[in-house]
Amino acid sequence: MILVTGATGKVGREVVEQLVALGREVRALSRKPQEANLPEGVEVVAGSPGDADSLAVALKGADAALVVLSGDVAAEARTFAAAAAEAGLRRIVLLSSAGVLHPLPHGIAREHREAEEAILGVDAAWTFLRPGPFHANTSWWIKTVRENSRVRDWIGNNPGAPIDEYDISSVAVAALTQDGHENKAYVLTGPEVLTSEEQARILGEAIGRELDFSVAPREEVVEVFAGITGDREAAVSNVAALHSPEVPWARPTTTVRDLTGREPRPYREWAAANAPLFG
Ligand SMILES: NC(=O)c1ccc[n+]([C@@H]2O[C@H](COP(=O)([O-])OP(=O)(O)OC[C@H]3O[C@@H](n4cnc5c(N)ncnc54)[C@H](OP(=O)(O)O)[C@@H]3O)[C@@H](O)[C@H]2O)c1
Repeated sequence: MILVTGATGKVGREVVEQLVALGREVRALSRKPQEANLPEGVEVVAGSPGDADSLAVALKGADAALVVLSGDVAAEARTFAAAAAEAGLRRIVLLSSAGVLHPLPHGIAREHREAEEAILGVDAAWTFLRPGPFHANTSWWIKTVRENSRVRDWIGNNPGAPIDEYDISSVAVAALTQDGHENKAYVLTGPEVLTSEEQARILGEAIGRELDFSVAPREEVVEVFAGITGDREAAVSNVAALHSPEVPWARPTTTVRDLTGREPRPYREWAAANAPLFG
């Protein structure tokens, strides 16, 4: 039995589908099981990785787990680690972040580092998946592209190698089901180095119209982030890191090819598949 947390999300849902296709027994954790809409045969347990009681139920009889943390990442990881130790879980694949390798200190990286440390404290085989930015992050542009064909970029315009969620899921499935990935950390990127402006151009080609691209200055992004979270200090450090040219995901890695035997998907495929969302 393999437990998947974040099972209704971008990475988790695809992991569940691939595991089911492989004939694996899958249990999913969701705060809203009645809306989960997962494949037939998947057992859905109500709860979340930050809720110890639901984890006790979800981990019963599980051999391995994919851990996706979407709320308070570090706190959820500690709760999950304690429950996993109690349940005697043997294998944990954690969706972490390439941010843990960032040379600048910032809140997102600290959260994921703490999550990795919590998992290391469990007597289980671990695999850390450390992706850079997801292709789906460009969904943030849907509203302004629909309204007036504009892209306002919040993460600076430095080169990076964004990755498709499908590839992260495929690597997660390999780590969950094959031997040889125990106690390893993998940096995951897409196949090509692109700036946000280049992504906006590719997206424009996919939807059939040119997009007006501009980069929001740091101060504006800090205001937006601080407005959402109420934490100005974290907003400043996160924005500084996101705008830094020294991002750890600027050089493509071979992880997806090494673990899946095929090349990672380029951004243009994501843009073509998701073009209808942009109107
Ligand atoms: N986006 C990036 O560029 C990037 C890069 C590197 C790492 N990451 C990491 O990847 C992880 C997210 O993966 P993902 O995009 O697949 O997840 P996601 O789609 O954002 O969310 C997965 C599931 O988590 C549950 N969820 C959402 N918000 C929550 C909250 N506030 N508290 C508790 N549960 C919540 C929802 O499931 P239910 O409603 O069914 O419970 C959701 O379907 C994060 O840890 C993120 O830091 C992201």
